[in-house]
Amino acid sequence: MITIHELRGKYIEFFKSKGHAEISGKSLIPDNDPTVLFTTAGMHPLVPYLLGEPHPAGKRLTDYQKCIRTGDIDAVGDPSHLTFFEMLGNWSLGDYFKEEALAWSFEFLTDPKWLGIPKDKLSVTVFAGEEGIPRDDVSAEIWKKLGIPEERIHYLPRQDNWWGPAGETGPCGPDSEMFVDTGKAACGPECRPGCHCGKYFEVWNDVFMQYNKDSEGRYTPLKAPCVDTGMGIERTVAMLQGKKSVYDTEAFTDVLAAIGRACGGTYDADAESGKSFRIIADHARTSTFILGDPGAVTPSNVGAGYVLRRIIRRAVRHGRKLGIEGSFLPGIAEVVIATYAGPYPELTENRGRILEELAKEEAKFLETLQKGEHEFEKMLPNLLKNPRKVMSGRLAFKLYDTYGFPIELTEELAAESGMTVDRPEFDEAFKKHQELSRAGSEQVFKGGLADHGEAAVKYHTATHLLHKALRLVLGDHVAQRGSNITAERLRFDFSHPDPMTPEQIRKVEEIVNEQIRRDLPVSMKVVTLEEAKAEGAMALFGEKYGESVKVYSVGDFSKEVCGGPHVEHTGILGKFVIQKEQSSSAGVRRIRAVLE
Ligand code: SER
Repeated sequence: MITIHELRGKYIEFFKSKGHAEISGKSLIPDNDPTVLFTTAGMHPLVPYLLGEPHPAGKRLTDYQKCIRTGDIDAVGDPSHLTFFEMLGNWSLGDYFKEEALAWSFEFLTDPKWLGIPKDKLSVTVFAGEEGIPRDDVSAEIWKKLGIPEERIHYLPRQDNWWGPAGETGPCGPDSEMFVDTGKAACGPECRPGCHCGKYFEVWNDVFMQYNKDSEGRYTPLKAPCVDTGMGIERTVAMLQGKKSVYDTEAFTDVLAAIGRACGGTYDADAESGKSFRIIADHARTSTFILGDPGAVTPSNVGAGYVLRRIIRRAVRHGRKLGIEGSFLPGIAEVVIATYAGPYPELTENRGRILEELAKEEAKFLETLQKGEHEFEKMLPNLLKNPRKVMSGRLAFKLYDTYGFPIELTEELAAESGMTVDRPEFDEAFKKHQELSRAGSEQVFKGGLADHGEAAVKYHTATHLLHKALRLVLGDHVAQRGSNITAERLRFDFSHPDPMTPEQIRKVEEIVNEQIRRDLPVSMKVVTLEEAKAEGAMALFGEKYGESVKVYSVGDFSKEVCGGPHVEHTGILGKFVIQKEQSSSAGVRRIRAVLE
């Protein structure tokens, strides 16, 4: 029976024999596409080359690529959904087109030397034509020549037979997909490839990249049409092994066994607990790959870091459902690392970081969970009295605001008791809260919080360090008068009568950089304004904050009332450099600084 490692090897070997150069897969964090958080397909890192840039390895390429798709994250737990998967691919960069691409796909799938799938089990789909782009008769003819009879060639619309772009913009085009008939009875007369009843199993997708979609939504023909093909390893191996689910392949065997050891049970696909096993298995695998990636994402409240935080936390919660009390994710990650050590040496290289970050996030979340779940249970008897079985968004917001309990988890807990959460009301409360903490500090931040991108968030934390360092160097009369942050720099206005001396500027830089070197943790708690004052948190008292305020502490160095968000720890800020110190208005100085 073919394994995931064998399939990877065979695929690459096959395309090398057809004149393709093997290239290495790239980071999970795309560096050429700001429109998405993760690499979503094998072609993703190749976008510039599909658009015409020459590739150093030539015009025929093949590789295996780690991918993450989070669009269906809530469906993970069923037998087929994954957030992380591996994709095999081969590409023609303006070289061969439909004829060779389809013939090679057919050969690899059916030749007994390769996958040996019986020809009569294979069905294909081609683009039916839409919006001025003609029906793909060329591909249909090629399939017929290869031996696929007319009745197993299906013409489907754009919704099924068009691929891309990988993000919001980029190369795309009509595709031809290959399906294997699993032998299951058809679900009805309309059942055909693309139907999700389980009869047809999609194994491969050959995309004929002919267009570039730009940010205005316009499609322009590519200079040289390309081929992009993609085969999901886990799915294909499950099919070849005759397994019902990707979780029954050796990609997960050891991982599920390790989860069993951690909870003192065994994986039973059909049991109620099977869902929790699968969620933990998927999320542990995905977080191991994210943390082991050179992209060096760590759990945070923004972007990819937020997705990472969310999946780690969901895994922890399902661990608890299985009865696991303490830390267990590092143990599961060890198994993922061992399973994938061969094709992905970066996991072994970054083992320390993976295990450490998982343990840290687990501990942090366990604390949050205990508090949040306890509060939810206290609310439950009252909630169940509601005949509509809807939990008010206001209450869900209270859990979030007071205990940091994520809304997704409140929704899950509610669902377990047969309830839903009034999400629009939650969203409204959430928005109002943000506006409130912003309005209160309007004079201070003047739009500085608008950008929640990773770079801006770093500047935000750097601003707290700067504020405190200025007070240490110049004196306690220093108070914030304004702050403006972009992804490129921070600007900070503060009360001080005289220009700073070069010595003072150097000293402030030194103090800030010292705090960055100390890699201080940033933590947040929600207290009343009075409590914040009593604790000596820096804030513009007299401003109208809401009743509760957030206090952000940077280690033992600074404590400030603020709406956030902030980085998790200061070590990732880089080097702090003051570029300019000048007058802003009478008695107010202005600093412009960057993180290098
Ligand atoms: N880009 C296509 C896919 O992801 C083929 O590689 O399916």
